[in-house]
Amino acid sequence: MKLDVRRLNRILSNIFNDIKNLSDEDRDLPIKWSVMHMYTTSQLGVLTGLKKGLDPELMGIIAALHDIGAIKTKKRENHARNASIYVHELIDLYNGKWRGNLSLITDEERIIIHEAVVSHSDKDILSTDLYIEAMKDVDSLDRYLHGINTKGGHINHLENMLDLFDISIAKS
Ligand SMILES: [Fe+2]
Repeated sequence: MKLDVRRLNRILSNIFNDIKNLSDEDRDLPIKWSVMHMYTTSQLGVLTGLKKGLDPELMGIIAALHDIGAIKTKKRENHARNASIYVHELIDLYNGKWRGNLSLITDEERIIIHEAVVSHSDKDILSTDLYIEAMKDVDSLDRYLHGINTKGGHINHLENMLDLFDISIAKS
């Protein structure tokens, strides 16, 4: 049994190469956090895709790109909407340069990825797009797993994931 996540792996390694040596100066979040969160959310994205019956690789790619706006602009404010241009830029780079003989990211996939990334901060707005909601859930669970206090709009999304994986925790 083998999961085909070659496109995701190619994207992760290229983004990692691109960002690993960026300085923390003027950054709202240290680059180490962004690198860690990129990898851990993409793994959770794949797992969540499998569990929810969504395309697991597509979920992983969405998660890999979801905070690219914060990484590129150094600022958290509006980082989801600010990611729009970078999502297109990275997909173009993947399709044009990085992919080698791997398959293209299709136009349909591009739309799904783009919408999920630019909407992932709208934690209080319920979307009918399953990838958008799954990305919010993954983001909230990953922060929780890294020991960040869950509050506000993240609570419902963390609870979605605890239900999805049938996990009960003492709520404190
Ligand atoms: Fe995030």
